[in-house]
Order: sequence, then structure tokens, then C-alpha cells
Amino acid sequence: MAISKIPMTDSQALWQRLERYVPRAVSPLAPFIVSEGRGAIVRDLEGREHIDLTGGWGCLNVGYSHPRVVRAVQEQAAKFTHTDCSVIMYEVYIELAERLSRSAPGPSPKKTIFFNSGAEAVENAVKIARSYTKRQAVVVFEGAFHGRTFMALSMTHKARPYKENFAPFASDIYRMPFPNPYRHLMDFKHWERQLLTLVNPDEIAGIVVEPIQGEGGFIVPQEGFLKFLREFTQKHGIVLVADEIQTGIGRTGTLYAYEHFGIEPDLITLAKSLAAGMPLSAVVGVERVIDAPGESAIGGTYVGNPVACAAALAVLDIIQEENLLERAVVLGEYMRERFGQMQQKYSVIGDVRSLGAMVAIELVKDRQSKEPATEETMAVIRDCLAHGVIIAKAGLYGNVIRMLVPLVIKESELKKGFDAIESAIAKVSRSVNG
Ligand SMILES: Cc1ncc(COP(=O)(O)O)c(C=O)c1O
Repeated sequence: MAISKIPMTDSQALWQRLERYVPRAVSPLAPFIVSEGRGAIVRDLEGREHIDLTGGWGCLNVGYSHPRVVRAVQEQAAKFTHTDCSVIMYEVYIELAERLSRSAPGPSPKKTIFFNSGAEAVENAVKIARSYTKRQAVVVFEGAFHGRTFMALSMTHKARPYKENFAPFASDIYRMPFPNPYRHLMDFKHWERQLLTLVNPDEIAGIVVEPIQGEGGFIVPQEGFLKFLREFTQKHGIVLVADEIQTGIGRTGTLYAYEHFGIEPDLITLAKSLAAGMPLSAVVGVERVIDAPGESAIGGTYVGNPVACAAALAVLDIIQEENLLERAVVLGEYMRERFGQMQQKYSVIGDVRSLGAMVAIELVKDRQSKEPATEETMAVIRDCLAHGVIIAKAGLYGNVIRMLVPLVIKESELKKGFDAIESAIAKVSRSVNG
């Protein structure tokens, strides 16, 4: 009798082709191939459903394939997909620029310009800051992530995997500590003294800061730090850039996260959830600063693509009509409470931190020494993946689990996701504590 071969699934066959034809730098976390997504749920080629608590890595605050986004994309694509806005301008660009500029809180009138990726927005924010100040130096932070193009990569901190073997990097970038209340409190005067040993403040074009560090581990800065930075930058004529690529578009319960800190930055970078994953980024900026570069000084072939702008307008409508800012707060409270309960039971959870729906836990081998529990974090992620729940890590030591749940997630889905996380944490706790 002939032995019948076990047929390869569609996902397995595609995975083989991925390994054969795509470089290994592209190494997806989830062990399946997606066929479709709705809300917070993705379905794989075999028909299994998974809960995506990474929200397409922070791009899907309005969820997968929101009908309104789909309609906006289809309608715009049927009209025209591209003109190059430096040749022919279109209404959706202007309307989106107006809505973002008007919705950014603070007394100064603002304007908005569009790009494709987060890194590109960061690069252009630096160009604008240099053009406005006629200075060169840029100050960034330990633990920062600003992207992977060369200026942005030079500003990004984590060496492996992002910077390994890619040197040389851009010059005139100075890195300063970011206050992390879980690990050490900062004396702001000391911070200022330390900066003076690196660079003359009067030569600094811009300080670029994530209001809450994303990739760095969802670090909500020590109280008063952003206000201190704002005063320091104002005193020295330095442009303050808030990189809101991960924190913006409703994640923290306000459209822009800087609103929580009582400051008005000069420039704000946006991307990720701005257009529900369509490639679109923006620099929103105080008029006198953002108007510094001359005509055609900044741009790019695809920047401000009309289909992506139409998607972004739909995103802003959805946030308003479905009360997603309030929803972010409610979801954040649920996640914080669940993680707080887990923290009481499992000593591997050293810290729970959050602002709105930007919630994370830091895993440590020992609460006293706070030694990062890197392998245990990966074990939790793998266990969740095996149970149909996608979560992502963060932090310099990869020992932080971060939640970027779509703000449209159903309560039952979030509960199911958290039950899977708790079960995975219980398992690693048993292994840590013997
Ligand atoms: C704060 C921050 N800045 C910049 C970037 C880079 O964005 P992109 O990957 O779209 O270039 C990211 C991406 O994770 C980010 O979180």
C-alpha cells in the first residue's frame, strides 16, 4: 500500500517561498500567513483566527479593514492614485493638512506637510529645525527609536539589530539620558550640566523626543521632564520635536500624546495609525518654524499620496464618531488592572506602566536587582502566538511586553488575549521560581 504524503498547507508552501526568495532580514514574528483582517482579528490561510494585540505594530488604532477606510481608499483610487503633489495638488491633501494643524493643541498657528514613512517624517523634522535655526546639532535620547533611514537610524539608539554593521552614521547627534521612573529618577539640573559637557546649547538645532518612549519600552517620563525640556529649548532657541509616530492618533486617549504634558512642541511627527497602515507620515509644525525651508526644499515623489490622505481623513472621522479617545482610556484601564492583578501574583512582572491604551509590563528575573528577563519575555510571546494571540516586545533588553491593541477591539477579544498572556506568564513564573 502506498504511503500517502501529508500535504503541505498553503502557509507552509508560502513560507518555503518566503525563505527562498526574500532576504532573511524580513523575519515575521507570527508563524502564519494572513488572508484577511477585521477589527482586531486576523485570519490565516488555514482559516484560523488570531487576536492581534500589536495592532499591525501600532498602525491600526481603527482596526483592520474598517469599512469606512476601505470605502475612502476605493473611492479615491477610482478617482486618481497619484499626481505628485509638487506638480498637481489635490483636495484631500489640503483638507488633511488643515484638520491635523487645527487639531494640534497649543496657541501657535500650525501647518502640516506629508511624507511616506515615520523615518522620513523624522528626517524632515530635523531638516526643518536646521533650516529654521541655521544650526547643526541634534539631541536625542537613550532608548530612542526614530527609524531606519540614515539620519533616523543615527538617532535611533538600540544597536542590535538596527545599527549592527551599518556604520558610519550621521554626525552632530548627541545622546542624553531619558528619565525612567522605574529604574532611576533624574535631577533635571544634572541633565542640563551633562548636556553642556557635550554640546553648546546655542549650537543645537533641535531636541527630538518621544513623549512616551515606544520601542525603548513604553517609558512614561518622569513628571515634569517634558516641561523642563520645553523651557530649556525655549531658553536656547532650540526647536523641540515631539516624535508622536507611536504615541499619536489617539493611542494615549488624546489625539496627540503631548497634550498630557502641558507643552506645545514646535514640530510633531506622525505616522503609523495616521492612515490605518497606508504609507503616510506627517510633520505638523508651528507656522514660523515649518515655513523655514524654501519652495521645493523638501518633498519626494510619493509624499502625501492621495489614497493614503483619503484613508487618514476616514481615520480622523472614525476616531471622532466612534469615540475612540474615550475608548482608549477605558481599554487602558482594563489592561492596567489585569496587569496589576498579574503583578501581585507573579514576581516576574517588575513594572506595569501606561498612559491611555499605551500599556506595557517589564519582566525581571528579580524585583530587587531588576535584572531583565529577556528569555522569559520571548517565551511569553511564543506561548501567546501558539494560542492565537499576537503580542510584541520592546525595550533595550527586549524584556518589555507592549500593548498596541486596535482601539476598536471587542471586550471579549481583549479578555481572551489577556487570559492567554496570563497563562503564559504563569508558566514562565513557575520556571523562574523553580
Ligand atoms: C517613535 C517612532 N519614530 C519613528 C519610527 C519609524 O517609523 P517608520 O518605521 O514608519 O519609518 C517609529 C517606528 O516604530 C517609531 O515608533
